[in-house]
Amino acid sequence: MKEFIPSAYSKQVESGAVGWQSPSNIALVKYWGKRDPQLPENPSISFTLDACRTKTIMHYSPKIYPGNSLSFDVYFEGEKNEAFKPKIAKFFERIEQYCPFVRDFHFKIETENTFPHSSGIASSASGMSALALCLMSIESELVDSMQDDFFKKKASFLARLGSGSACRSIEGDLIVWGEHDNIKGSNDFYGIQYPDEVHPNFKNYHDTILLIDKGEKQVSSTVGHNLMHGHPFAKNRFLQAHENLSKLQAVLKEGDIEGFIKIMESEALTLHGMMMTSSPYFILMKPNTLKVINKIWNFRNETGLPVGFTLDAGANVHILYPENDSVRIFQFIKDQLVEYCQNGHYICDRIGKGASQLKVKS
Ligand code: PMV
Repeated sequence: MKEFIPSAYSKQVESGAVGWQSPSNIALVKYWGKRDPQLPENPSISFTLDACRTKTIMHYSPKIYPGNSLSFDVYFEGEKNEAFKPKIAKFFERIEQYCPFVRDFHFKIETENTFPHSSGIASSASGMSALALCLMSIESELVDSMQDDFFKKKASFLARLGSGSACRSIEGDLIVWGEHDNIKGSNDFYGIQYPDEVHPNFKNYHDTILLIDKGEKQVSSTVGHNLMHGHPFAKNRFLQAHENLSKLQAVLKEGDIEGFIKIMESEALTLHGMMMTSSPYFILMKPNTLKVINKIWNFRNETGLPVGFTLDAGANVHILYPENDSVRIFQFIKDQLVEYCQNGHYICDRIGKGASQLKVKS
């Protein structure tokens, strides 16, 4: 996208520091399957979360030994971390035509998550979007002026190149990524705020995340996405995502929570259905994932309360429910579901407003 390739920078900066905290997000219509360069095979839509965040501070200074190599150190929760470096190096390489200054500076990247380390919660969306926002803050110091709208668009565009779903973590509270005929402005390159009407029923929606399994996933999402190439059901799945997004538009407008739950749960099970029918096939759900799902269905049938679930690429269960019924539904979660969580751990989150800038001393 030429729009994001800068002409020569007008200013020079010496050293400084910038910081952002950026949230995770949970997809309602899932992105699963991509083509180069990190473009989705179907459109997706997500709720931006609030409590699950990554905080990143990026110190920058001119490189001591000028040259073409990348120069950066990463600190995770205060400790130097070598394990994150290859992923960040790959990200810098992917974005360097859009941010050529990445080879001019040495960076010290300090990062931490608000959610517990190794909770099975993917930190790639929050982590990559925080990093992209820091780079945009540096870029905005290298040019005379930058419009806020451009800043956010390019941050989402860069975040996408780090991890696809990260492009949906810049703003709140409902974000669409991927071209869809009925959603104005939707495109494959960056996320946009859902432009159409949303009923107040969906304001302040809750997401309680049950940590069913905190272990490392056996199959990464990169491998999973790639298995959609040549997948026997891929073509229909991509069409279905378009249809589900159209159906969701009506549901969001009318405040139809029952319809919302149907689409969301079907999307979650279809995502895992794609995994189970890939070649090679794999299963990321655990026995307790299924126990929780059945408990939710029983409770919903017995009480009529509007509680539903979704899953990301793992065993954890996201339980989504509206503000109005939150007291009774949260009581049910505590009474009947927490026992299925590893060490009884869960996270109370809700729909959020997007990333925010941190005040940092350089
Ligand atoms: O952003 P990635 O490559 O980690 O893919 C994430 C895919 C899902 O979380 C399973 C679905 C989605 O749309 O977020």
